[in-house]
Amino acid sequence: MNLSQEQKADLVRIAKNVRKWAYAPYSKYKVGAALLTESGKVYEGVNVENAAFPVTNCAERTAVFTAVANGETKFQAIAVVTENGGAPCGSCRQVLAEFGTEILVITADEHENIVSEKKLIELLPGAFTPADLP
Ligand code: THU
Repeated sequence: MNLSQEQKADLVRIAKNVRKWAYAPYSKYKVGAALLTESGKVYEGVNVENAAFPVTNCAERTAVFTAVANGETKFQAIAVVTENGGAPCGSCRQVLAEFGTEILVITADEHENIVSEKKLIELLPGAFTPADLP
């Protein structure tokens, strides 16, 4: 299912708007994510840092876990907004891959300029997925 330019822009705007709630007192790198389900709903996420640094949860994973907690496991696309349109980390790529390697991953900067648009399989070639388990 291909997204229109308008759908992409809407998803980026949602991610940009939720980014203000990012809890990033240590890195100051605020991240907002908006995950579009196949049913058309959008789940938001932000990064949530912790004084014990490795416990931090990324915005993308917050969005995925919130969606799953609402019974949604089929996703079309995720928009990730940061100051500079930075790429999703490896852990988030792996978490997304659990639910499909065709998910579109859009990154955008804080002015809503799209920096990158790639299918998850391009971001995580050879991903380990549920199909790899015997
Ligand atoms: N971060 C995300 O939220 N998503 C990513 O994919 C990359 C990194 C967060 C984690 C941390 O709070 C901050 O950005 C700096 O690494």
